[in-house]
Amino acid sequence: MKEFINKTAFITGGASGIGLGIAKTLVKEGMNVVIGDVQDDRLDRAEAELKAISNNIMAVNVDVCSRSALQEVAEMIERRFGTVQVLCNNAGIGGGAKVLETPDDRWRRVQEVNLWGPINGIKVFLPRMLESGEEGHIVNTSSFSGIHGHGNQSCYGASKFALVGLSEFLRNDLTDTEVSVSVLCPHVADTPIIDALKEKVNDQVREMIEDMAVPADTVGQQVLNAIKNQEFYIFCDGTHTRKMLEKRCEDMLAAMDRQFPKEEG
Ligand SMILES: NC(=O)c1ccc[n+]([C@@H]2O[C@H](COP(=O)([O-])OP(=O)(O)OC[C@H]3O[C@@H](n4cnc5c(N)ncnc54)[C@H](O)[C@@H]3O)[C@@H](O)[C@H]2O)c1
Repeated sequence: MKEFINKTAFITGGASGIGLGIAKTLVKEGMNVVIGDVQDDRLDRAEAELKAISNNIMAVNVDVCSRSALQEVAEMIERRFGTVQVLCNNAGIGGGAKVLETPDDRWRRVQEVNLWGPINGIKVFLPRMLESGEEGHIVNTSSFSGIHGHGNQSCYGASKFALVGLSEFLRNDLTDTEVSVSVLCPHVADTPIIDALKEKVNDQVREMIEDMAVPADTVGQQVLNAIKNQEFYIFCDGTHTRKMLEKRCEDMLAAMDRQFPKEEG
């Protein structure tokens, strides 16, 4: 996408952290920005912050698990701003624990928000985006935990791996259309999710997290660059994660080479 002025973005989980970082960046680019979230206090604060930059802001309480509620939001946005050109399926919840230690209801809830939320967003907004015939972009917020299975992330990591897969297949579906896709894979971004995590760990781990954390506003800028340049994967840091990615690729290729050795010559 090259034109941003007076175009419209809808960002779920947009009242806080990464979503708000994206919202601020896109507002500064001249876009109308609609943030959706389930926390009214955060919505009020974020709306005030964004309105200090532009008046073309809407803040709506919407749960991404409800397709009908998203449908209403789509209609509300169209009445005020017209069709959405940028959809950021960003709302997400955590769920780090071992597989056996994660109760079934948590497994289901995390998939409902982190995977079905984006599916609902796509099913509601993508047909409208395609119908408009305009250039558009969808950003799905996954995680580096959707790229590499490190730590104990059970239901969270599984939902984020699924979201990377969904994004790759969506990209294939949308070849030859005006709509492009990116999948955002932050490792550690400085947001309230990470603040909550920091309270549970010892001083040494806290320091490590602080050292790795990328500011949410920087992530917003990385997302904007990816939209402008039609980049599919958005990695927010290339230092702490590079070795993990290399190891995953090496392990897979080594398995393939063992099972199907390359013929000489
Ligand atoms: N912060 C990180 O280090 C990090 C790393 C990797 C991935 N992520 C992902 O980034 C996204 C944003 O996380 P964040 O760190 O900014 O956290 P955050 O808690 O600051 O923001 C997430 C927002 O989503 C909202 N939300 C939760 N459930 C919702 C629902 N059902 N419907 C609508 N809104 C809902 C929350 O109210 C919250 O305001 C998440 O998908 C998260 O998994 C974050």
